[in-house]
Amino acid sequence: MNAENPEVLISEEEIQARVLALAEQISADYGGEELVMVGVLKGSFIFLADLSRRLSIPRTIEFIAVSSYDNGSVASGAVRLVMDVRGNIEGKHVLIVEDIVDTGHTLKYLIRLMKSHRPASVKTAALVRKAESAEVDVTIDYLGFDIGDEWVVGYGLDYAEQNRTLPYIGFVEPTDS
Ligand code: IMP
Ligand code: MG
Repeated sequence: MNAENPEVLISEEEIQARVLALAEQISADYGGEELVMVGVLKGSFIFLADLSRRLSIPRTIEFIAVSSYDNGSVASGAVRLVMDVRGNIEGKHVLIVEDIVDTGHTLKYLIRLMKSHRPASVKTAALVRKAESAEVDVTIDYLGFDIGDEWVVGYGLDYAEQNRTLPYIGFVEPTDS
């Protein structure tokens, strides 16, 4: 694995331009309604920070934490809830903000979890989707990029906790699959 210098897949400039476009689209779609952005820890923290600061509508921030992978790139199957939202989201417009959708199991679980809090609406944003890896049908309302079946790091994404703070999205070769 090239942990020191992952090869660039999506550049910092491309990411910033796409995040701005998504923010403009979200701001237009919600038409001034207040949004509760629910970031999925840890991977979404940078995407959420940039996306939220580019919106022109009222918004608040919540976080949830789930675990579906055991510190590497091999799926363990079940999605485990580590931390739910703290604020009351009943009757609010919720936007789940994910880093990456791979099989889709995590996002599907999160949509169900958010709906159990009886919000006014639930939509989804994801920076990256691995289009070929989908196992369940799940709608991404705001998608940054489609990529192939490779392990990506940077802009919040990690491989065994490494490379989260790279400004671009790069790819590495996992050693455990
Ligand atoms: P899913 O449930 O298979 O869609 O998995 C989604 C979760 O797996 C994401 O939220 C990430 O935490 C993790 N994940 C999947 N692929 C990657 C990757 O290429 N890099 C980093 N994390 C990934
Ligand atoms: Mg994640």
